[in-house]
Amino acid sequence: MLASSPCFPTTSSSRSPLLLSSILILLSLPLFFLLAPRVLPPRTLPAIPASDELDDLALFRRATLASPDVRLLGSPGRRTSPPPKVAFLFLTNSDISFAPLWERFFRGHAGFFNVYVHADPTASIVSPGGVFHGRFIPAKPTQRASPTLISAARRLLAAALLDDPANAFFALVSQHCVPIHSFRFVYRAVFDAATAADRGRRPRYRSFIEILSGEPGLWDRYVARGDQVMLPEVSFDQFRVGSQFFVLTRRHAVAVVRDRRLWKKFRMPCLKSKEDSCYPEEHYFPTLLSMQDPAGCTGYTLTRVNWTGSVGGHPHTYRPGEVTAELVRNLRRSNGTYSYLFARKFSPDCLDPLMELSDSVILRD
Ligand SMILES: *[C@@H]1O[C@H](CO)[C@@H](O)[C@H](O)[C@H]1NC(C)=O
Ligand SMILES: *[C@@H]1O[C@H](CO)[C@@H](O)[C@H](O)[C@H]1NC(C)=O
Repeated sequence: MLASSPCFPTTSSSRSPLLLSSILILLSLPLFFLLAPRVLPPRTLPAIPASDELDDLALFRRATLASPDVRLLGSPGRRTSPPPKVAFLFLTNSDISFAPLWERFFRGHAGFFNVYVHADPTASIVSPGGVFHGRFIPAKPTQRASPTLISAARRLLAAALLDDPANAFFALVSQHCVPIHSFRFVYRAVFDAATAADRGRRPRYRSFIEILSGEPGLWDRYVARGDQVMLPEVSFDQFRVGSQFFVLTRRHAVAVVRDRRLWKKFRMPCLKSKEDSCYPEEHYFPTLLSMQDPAGCTGYTLTRVNWTGSVGGHPHTYRPGEVTAELVRNLRRSNGTYSYLFARKFSPDCLDPLMELSDSVILRD
């Protein structure tokens, strides 16, 4: 058939071995492109599986539709009949070792909070029961240096939006985070900040999310997925960095779950050669919210972390010997007019010394 096509005239010279081998090469090209990614080492880190993306899209669409009037819910002036709640979103890939401390933190405050857990299914994490019982949401694997951490946080936000319209703030924490104030203090701090900041005007809740620009190394983070790939959606001067641990208002939770435009870029895997600059979860949320509603964000995080002497992108991890009343008081202290409410990272064996301090220091403001 090939021989009768206009490109391959049927003269005897055209039946030469040279032509035959050219045809073979042409025919094998598609096969080459099919197999090359498996044979050659990949240029990028693993991408998010398409099936996970499809599941998320359906979930996020439902969560967006279920939150039609975010303006009313975002305002302290129009409280719905049940008191507004804080949704605590636990993002974890190992056991929730500090569950007993959180249990004590939540005790006596039923009706003012909800708990949601995204536990990496590959880690077979056992529910600690109590306030965590039945609060595990459908989860997918997460990895460092991968947008899967963003997906997991968005899944938690979507699940919490769908679950309870009274959820007004959404606090992301990990298994290494601990509270450093009482629940009552935390609740007042997030709900009263709006009224304090907007005296005289119609009060509006604000998100507590760190939003930094001009940090060293920011350019390397910006090009971690390749040169120019963030354009035109995100120019370098719109690109921000900040702690992954935020407390978002409901209207910002909806904005995050609704977003498709920036996610299209941030979901791209980093280049292998840029693995050391690959922390998409530290960029997606601050970039998105600073582009959409900078005035609705405080620009700082409520979760204290110690970067002194950090190694390989990990902050200082506190060991049992370091856990003292003085440390807790130091960790609360910030430069602003606010106090830190949570702190990280603590190694799991800090549970005993933390429990010893819980009633006398941590939950006493
Ligand atoms: C931060 O970590 C360093 C060790 O890397 C430690 O010496 C210092 O005391 C820590 N700071 C606080 C406030 O805990
Ligand atoms: C407070 O500000 C000082 C000086 O600007 C800085 O060295 C210190 O790290 C800041 N502390 C916190 C907790 O942000």
